[in-house]
Amino acid sequence: MPVGLLALGTYVPDKVLTNEDLARFLDTSDEWITTRTGIKERRVAEQNQFAYDLAERAVLDLVARHGEGALADVDLVIVATNAPDAFFPNTAALIQNRFGLKAAGYDLLAGCPGWIYALAQAVGQVEAGLARKALVIGSEVLTKITDWRDRSTAVLFGDGAGAAVVGPVPDGYGFRSFVLGADGSGGAALHMGALANTLPDGTRMSNKIFMNGREVFKFAVRVMDTATLEAIEKAGLEKADIRLFVPHQANLRIVDAARERLGLDWEQVVVNLHKYGNTSTASIPIALKEALDGGRIRDGDHLLFVSFGAGLTWAAAVLTWYGGGA
Ligand code: ACO
Repeated sequence: MPVGLLALGTYVPDKVLTNEDLARFLDTSDEWITTRTGIKERRVAEQNQFAYDLAERAVLDLVARHGEGALADVDLVIVATNAPDAFFPNTAALIQNRFGLKAAGYDLLAGCPGWIYALAQAVGQVEAGLARKALVIGSEVLTKITDWRDRSTAVLFGDGAGAAVVGPVPDGYGFRSFVLGADGSGGAALHMGALANTLPDGTRMSNKIFMNGREVFKFAVRVMDTATLEAIEKAGLEKADIRLFVPHQANLRIVDAARERLGLDWEQVVVNLHKYGNTSTASIPIALKEALDGGRIRDGDHLLFVSFGAGLTWAAAVLTWYGGGA
C-alpha cells in the first residue's frame, strides 16, 4: 500500500527581523549575510510563543485548508523539534489533546532532518499497519536558544512550523525512498548542552547553539550530494526524473552546490530561505507549501527532499506527489 502526503499546513510568526536589524547590535552587515548565506530576513516568535504554539498554528492552517476531516483516522502524532517546550510532557501529546485525537504521540530529536526522519517513521508505521494516518510536525523556536552575541550563528536561524498528514494514497503515488544517516563523531560541531556539561569526546558544551560553521558547511555539501543520489537510486529513478528539489533551507551556497551536482535549473529548486532563514525541521514543509501554493507541483511529480544538521545527521526522500490529497 503506497503512503504519501494527504494534507499540509504551516505557520510562521508575524515578527520580522531583517539583516539591517541585526547589524544594529551585531558586528555584521546585510552585504555579508546576503553573500555568505542568501538570507535577508527571518521570523521571530513572540516571548510567549513556543514550539507547541507554532505547531498548533500549523495544524490549524492544515485544517483551514483541508477541513476537519483531514485529521480523521490520525492515530499517531510525531513532532520533530530541536527546541521543545519541556523535557516532558512531549509536544506531540499536547497536540493530540488539543485536537482531540485518539493517537499515540512522541517527539523526535534529529537535528534539522527531523521532519524527514519523522516522515520515514510515519510511513513505516502506516505501511506496517501500526497506524492508519499520522500527523507529522516540524516546529522550531531556534531564536530562543540562539546566542545573540555570536554573529556566526545569530544571523542564520528563524522560527516556524509545518504539519502534514501522512496516509494511504493510490498506486503510483507516495514515498518511493528514504535515506537516513547519522555520524556522531561530528556531534561537537553543532551542539547545545542540556543536563551534561560535556560530550563523550570531552567537548565542553555551550548552553546556546554552538556551531563550527566551516565544518558543518563541508559536511552539508558532501551529504546533500550523496544522500540525494542514493535516494534517487533507491526510488528506481534517474536524476532527470526529479521535477522539484525541496532542500533544507540553510544556506543558498549549499543549495546551489547540490543543484549543480543534480543538474537542475533554478526553476526546479524551491528556495525561500531569504525570507525565513534556517527554520530547521520546519524548513522543508514551509518550502513545500509555498511551492504548492505557487502552482509549482503537479499530480505525479517526483519531488526530492534533503536535509542535514545537528548530530550530525542527514536525510533524503523521494515522493511522488498525489494531487488528490494536499
Ligand atoms: N557577519 C560578518 N562577519 C562574519 C559573520 C557575520 N554574521 N559571521 C562570521 N563572520 C566572519 C568570521 O569571523 C570570519 O572572519 P575572519 O576571517 O576574520 O576569521 C569570516 O567572516 C569568515 O567566516 P567563515 O566561518 O569562514 O564564513 P563562511 O563563508 O564559512 O560562512 C557560515 C559562515 C554562513 C556560517 C557558513 O559556514 C555556513 O553556512 N555553514 C553551515 C551552517 C549551517 O547550514 N548550519 C545548519 C545547521 S542545521 C541544524 O541542525 C541546526
